[in-house]
Amino acid sequence: MFFRQLLETETSTYTYILGDPTWHEAVVIDPVLETIDEILRILDRESMRLAYVLDTHVHADHVTGASALRAHTGAQVVISRRAAAPCADVPVDDNDFIVLGDDVIRVISTPGHTPGCASYRWRDRVFTGDALLIGGCGRTDFQGGDAGALYDSITGKIFTLRDETLVYPGHDYAGRHVSCVGEEKRMNRRLAGKSREEFIAIMAELHLSKPKKIHVAVPANQRCGALNI
Ligand SMILES: [Fe+2]
Repeated sequence: MFFRQLLETETSTYTYILGDPTWHEAVVIDPVLETIDEILRILDRESMRLAYVLDTHVHADHVTGASALRAHTGAQVVISRRAAAPCADVPVDDNDFIVLGDDVIRVISTPGHTPGCASYRWRDRVFTGDALLIGGCGRTDFQGGDAGALYDSITGKIFTLRDETLVYPGHDYAGRHVSCVGEEKRMNRRLAGKSREEFIAIMAELHLSKPKKIHVAVPANQRCGALNI
């Protein structure tokens, strides 16, 4: 198996490259437009063909590199059907799967941060986008966010995976790279020991400022990151 975690430092966004060296096939999760050259270099160096680009949702803080990677490699773009992004080649629903070499990547619909959020489970790990973050979770105050739905997605879906399942988030703002389901169940400050009502109250009191690029990023990402249409 081939695995890389890349960090785009301006927005603290993680991108993941998953590969099957036997089949020379790879998948990229949540590429950032500014880092596609690095992704293409890695794929070239490892002699892997990019089969799919998976976005966990329509991002508000950065422009996805999905469209640019599709143009360079012919990869198909995957995103939740509920993300309402007609640019996607493969709109997916809960429990669908994407084939990567000898394995599958399972789609877990995890709405709440946005209605069209999906997590992707591959082998011993899950890529949670902005649903579950390390010690926290994605905000729910714009893009159709719904704190109750996010609580249900995390506790009813992600937390039902095995405790040792590795959790790779879409962002981390404190330099942490990975967690696991058991640790988040025990330690996540917004979720551990909290009722649904308590969680909704916590999320209502965050009063965060909007991401700087939101007015560019959201419309661009509804086009899979194509900027000039
Ligand atoms: Fe997000």
